[in-house]
Amino acid sequence: MRSFASLLLSAAFAASAVLANPIRARSPYSVKETHFAPREWKKLDRADGESVIQLQIGLKQGNFDELERHLYEVSDPSHARYGKHLTAEEVNDCVKPKEETTNQVLEWLRENGVEPAGTTSAQDWIIVHLPIKDVERLLDTEYHNYRHDDGHMVARTTHWSLPRHLHRHIDTIQPTNSFFRAAAQKADWVVTDEAEEPASYQTPSDPAVAKVCNVTSVTPECFATLYKTKGYKAKGGPKSSVGFTNYLGEIPIRPDTKLFLQKYRPEAVSSAYSFKQYSIDGGPVQDGPLTYNQSTVEGISNEANLDVQAISGISWPIKITSYSTGGSPPFIPDLSTPTNTNEPYLAWVNWLLEQKSFPKVISTSYGEPEQSIPPSYAKRVCAQFAQVGVRGTSLLFSSGDRGVGGTGKCFSNDGKNTFKFLGDFPVSCPYVTGVGATMNFEPEESAYRAARNVSGVFRDLYSSGSGFSDYFPRPKYQNKVVPAYVKSLKGQYDGLYNKAGRGYPDISAQGLYFAYFWNGTEGVISGTSASTPLTSGIIALVNDALIAKGKPALGFLNPWIYSKGYKGFTDITKGFAYGCTADNKGFPVQEGWDPVTGFGTPIFPELVKLAGGHHH
Ligand SMILES: *[C@@H]1O[C@H](CO)[C@@H](O)[C@H](O)[C@H]1NC(C)=O
Ligand SMILES: *[C@@H]1O[C@H](CO)[C@@H](O)[C@H](O)[C@H]1NC(C)=O
Ligand SMILES: *[C@@H]1O[C@H](CO)[C@@H](O)[C@H](O)[C@H]1NC(C)=O
Ligand SMILES: *[C@@H]1O[C@H](CO)[C@@H](O)[C@H](O)[C@H]1NC(C)=O
Repeated sequence: MRSFASLLLSAAFAASAVLANPIRARSPYSVKETHFAPREWKKLDRADGESVIQLQIGLKQGNFDELERHLYEVSDPSHARYGKHLTAEEVNDCVKPKEETTNQVLEWLRENGVEPAGTTSAQDWIIVHLPIKDVERLLDTEYHNYRHDDGHMVARTTHWSLPRHLHRHIDTIQPTNSFFRAAAQKADWVVTDEAEEPASYQTPSDPAVAKVCNVTSVTPECFATLYKTKGYKAKGGPKSSVGFTNYLGEIPIRPDTKLFLQKYRPEAVSSAYSFKQYSIDGGPVQDGPLTYNQSTVEGISNEANLDVQAISGISWPIKITSYSTGGSPPFIPDLSTPTNTNEPYLAWVNWLLEQKSFPKVISTSYGEPEQSIPPSYAKRVCAQFAQVGVRGTSLLFSSGDRGVGGTGKCFSNDGKNTFKFLGDFPVSCPYVTGVGATMNFEPEESAYRAARNVSGVFRDLYSSGSGFSDYFPRPKYQNKVVPAYVKSLKGQYDGLYNKAGRGYPDISAQGLYFAYFWNGTEGVISGTSASTPLTSGIIALVNDALIAKGKPALGFLNPWIYSKGYKGFTDITKGFAYGCTADNKGFPVQEGWDPVTGFGTPIFPELVKLAGGHHH
């Protein structure tokens, strides 16, 4: 078997299907998992049986509990092992499946003439390439084409089966019943003259902030002043690094980033051409400007440009890495076109885990309603994120742009369309740090802009994403603050959310009307897509100060934030998470932690002090 890494490097993938005979197994089949498509998805005709998909088989990991124990110990500032992050080999030793697991799964594949195309080096994932018709026999299921309201198409099934003796050896197999698209969390790009001062805006009394902060076009100098990174000279040594991920064909455009930095951070302009780009599973990379088609036909790179500009504007001269994962091509509205079959987060994180080293902070501005994916798959992707965290990297994810749920979208996929608030994934994973968005400066409050029509174009509600997971129970580090918040609601919204779930976000930062460049032109753009890369850049600066003192990077942030680091954030106490109905007010922002702004926005010198670095 080739390793996953070499598999990705090889250009030719032969379909490995044989399946000459009907399914053979030593025990009868039974359904392993059923998961219904959320109601935005319409079931269409049977999927094309000849279309080849890349099936990822998640084998039960040998000792994930041990890995989780390591993660919490090395991330807890009061533990003797704080900062003693694990190597790739140590991680693999924990998650490597038991021999019996590997043998049973390989035997089943072999009996059915299926040859694995690759595995992860921990051998906890096996990849096979098969035409859909063979997958249907292997998993005793039927694939159909499904179309999302936004036009996105996938070939999926609602349930799949395994021989009974394999149920305890396999956690998940995808793509089967995951209806995941990795949507970018960007509220609409708007030209500058559409930006409106929020009704609650007040001119800041701090003259330094008032001088550089413009609420309808916020810039790196404003962030540096507001969050007090100004004057900090980053060393940007070889160990200092920050990365961000791109999906859905998004590509950071160097000439746009150059224009942005020339205007707003001239000393950083070289980073527009020096950030590194990696292509995973055919993800696009380019060095030149947007082509005409990219700008007009495909309308891409708003998200990627925002990410790289928010990061480089605050964190220069720290090295930046961009990851582009393919597999979610722009929508092609044609039923006969083979549909998107990839699962992009898994492809990215498994690729990353094969690398010897990677950036100490990685920002992701994509997410999806948690109920789009089955629990088994969410849990395994989340487990892969834990493996990144235990190696000493902070993973930051945006909390979403639709408050407690999209207008008219708040229905459970329980088959009864029960009205409920909708949480997002991956931000609901307890091993990542969720970032919400704020607006205004004095005081900052949770970001919000009502739905409206601008020149005949509908602009949806924007409200910083907020919620509780239905899949992940509340992690220990939230045991103090989250029940206190729930109690303070006095039963309001009971039944609409899971009180016992992981609440998010953990922290927040500015996320309304970021100045940025796209296709050679300046505009402004909003979203937790903006606050997440900005916060990632600031965490990278904290790491820079630690590394300069010979200390390890912060790694998985939450145990530190919830026990100590929270004191380095300005508590936000104003605002609401809106959503679900046109005028619905959901969770209120409150003193202390709340599921809209978390612990609040960064105060850089305090964070450095609390983390044990010096600040000059
Ligand atoms: C704030 O930015 C907007 C958009 O760039 C601009 O029109 C406006 O003049 C600026 N306001 C101030 C006080 O600079
Ligand atoms: C641009 O898009 C149009 C419409 O989809 C297509 O016909 C044309 O071939 C594309 N041009 C390039 C250079 O990709
Ligand atoms: C992008 O820029 C090109 C070149 O200036 C222009 O022709 C094109 O219309 C622009 N696209 C959009 C969507 O503004
Ligand atoms: C936007 O315009 C449409 C069509 O005229 C209308 O139905 C809708 O209510 C408007 N929405 C808002 C938020 O003004």
